[in-house]
Amino acid sequence: MASLANILVSLLLIAIFFPTPILCYLKQAPVRVQQGATDTSAYHTYIVLVEPPPFNADEDMYYHWYESFLPSSRDGDSGKARLVHSYTKVFSGFATMLTDGELDAVAKKPGFVRAFKEKTRYLMTTHTPKFLGLRNGTGFWRDASYGKGVIIGLLDTGIYAKHSSFGDHGIPSPPARWKGSCKATRCNNKLIGAKSFVKHEDTNDEDGHGTHTSSTAAGNFIIDASYHGMAAGTASGIAPGAHIAM
Ligand SMILES: *[C@@H]1O[C@H](CO)[C@@H](O)[C@H](O)[C@H]1NC(C)=O
Repeated sequence: MASLANILVSLLLIAIFFPTPILCYLKQAPVRVQQGATDTSAYHTYIVLVEPPPFNADEDMYYHWYESFLPSSRDGDSGKARLVHSYTKVFSGFATMLTDGELDAVAKKPGFVRAFKEKTRYLMTTHTPKFLGLRNGTGFWRDASYGKGVIIGLLDTGIYAKHSSFGDHGIPSPPARWKGSCKATRCNNKLIGAKSFVKHEDTNDEDGHGTHTSSTAAGNFIIDASYHGMAAGTASGIAPGAHIAM
């Protein structure tokens, strides 16, 4: 059981840290991170996976187990705790700042599994569906018919109905089970329901939040979308074929 749990946690973490899952169990043959190798004295933040403590541990003992992997101090600030964060619930490991040389030493300690170097990630906006592996005309998106026939209901700040994300090209009529009504400046096969629960207020979205959430969930395809030329691509929600009721 314990080793099965270890494998599952390893796979989970691999799935988290790598866009494409790599099916291997790293505990037996630790794989070191790639190093930049330019300035060997520079500190980088790492998430270091280690085996669980070799004793029945409470939070304090986790802390001591993790600390036992680390050099006792950094140059010039002796005694300062090196742990940036301890992970104790889903996996055993910690975040810390290390130089390349220190990482080598940490990696030699028994119980070390793997280290992941910090990485800057960028907002993906237009490219999020692609990142998730959703492609027009193939795979999961095609098999799920882009969410056609699904009604996504949102309770939010309203909706800017005329936004091109809520155009209804390619969207069939709502299913017969739909009993709602639509009171917006534009209702169509995409935006099939709009209703305000706030007295004397219409369904327009002064705030912008409801427009954001509903287009993220079910915005239709917009080819050649960009923000002043940036993030150019085809924008869409994750279920571009679904209906929206705000
Ligand atoms: C998706 O593929 C179909 C069929 O090839 C094409 O007609 C349609 O324009 C494509 N839609 C987008 C948003 O690329």
